[in-house]
Amino acid sequence: MINDLEELRGEAVAELNQAETEEALLSIKTRYLGRKGLLTGLLRNISQVPPEERPLFGMRSNEIKDILAEAIDKALQRMVLKKRDEALLRERIDVTLPGRAIRAGRLHPIIHVSREICEIFAGLGFSVVEGPEIELDYYNFEALNIPKDHPARDMQDTFYVEENIVLRTHTSPVQIRTMEKQKPPVRILSPGRVYRPDSDVSHTPMFHQIEGLLVDKGITFGDLKGVLTFFVRKVFGEDTAIRFRPSFFPFTEPSAEVDIRCVMCRGTGCRVCGQSGWLEILGSGMVDPEVFKNVGYDPEEISGFAFGLGLERIAMLKYGVSDIRLFFENDWRFLEQF
Ligand code: DAH
Repeated sequence: MINDLEELRGEAVAELNQAETEEALLSIKTRYLGRKGLLTGLLRNISQVPPEERPLFGMRSNEIKDILAEAIDKALQRMVLKKRDEALLRERIDVTLPGRAIRAGRLHPIIHVSREICEIFAGLGFSVVEGPEIELDYYNFEALNIPKDHPARDMQDTFYVEENIVLRTHTSPVQIRTMEKQKPPVRILSPGRVYRPDSDVSHTPMFHQIEGLLVDKGITFGDLKGVLTFFVRKVFGEDTAIRFRPSFFPFTEPSAEVDIRCVMCRGTGCRVCGQSGWLEILGSGMVDPEVFKNVGYDPEEISGFAFGLGLERIAMLKYGVSDIRLFFENDWRFLEQF
């Protein structure tokens, strides 16, 4: 019987040495040490062992039980460690690699300039209103005193959607829409996209304008000059030289264009200012009485001024950008500089 015990031990050890998986080890454990296991079976037959051998048999079988249990546990432990090492190797993370930077979004330079201008005028009591980009001929032209056969229509080549529907060529139609809905006083600013079929270093088929309108009792050209001078100096610096040059727009009378001293050459003459030393930055004027009549305002009672400017042009001058198309190419090397 003692021999049976030793034989069993030998078999168990041989099996253990061959086991390669956790499952194999656990099944060995049940096969030898389980309640119905082989070693337990031998012990149960202790009655067949001659009485004088029984103490030795008992002792030895307990020893073997401990030895096997320990060997199996150690093998199991080794297996767990091996598994962990393999997993670590498989999922290895190189903590010395540089991290992946998250590129944060930022405001487009045109939006920057637009907000800056809106804030300056907000300080003067102007509020921001918006209008549709697909506009009726009536609001884009007629009501602004630009009838169908008027030569001024040639100033603004137009994308037509249908016979009487256009992509707005300027933000001025928002003046009309606002005055139709609201009685004086009016103090609004209207930023937005406008469209004209032009394309070169200083024109894109879509660009941005801001329209301004102030209507009240007793508004004079002096108010126009004061407000626009204040605004231009806020944007381009307090010592910016400004001039008001007589001009023509069908919706204002008198009209004036506002020039600033060239920001590139400071007035000596260069390519940017066409050697004149001055840069045109906006159109303006006293709202034409015809426009007031079109919206039901009485030009005998109130007066006002309006102005319009191109945001790309302001941004180009402010930031020294020489090609307008850069604003729309979405190259982050350009955009991240603002
Ligand atoms: N709408 C004109 C343009 O697109 C700009 C402009 C000029 C707007 C004079 C005005 C204004 O309100 O008074 O060229």
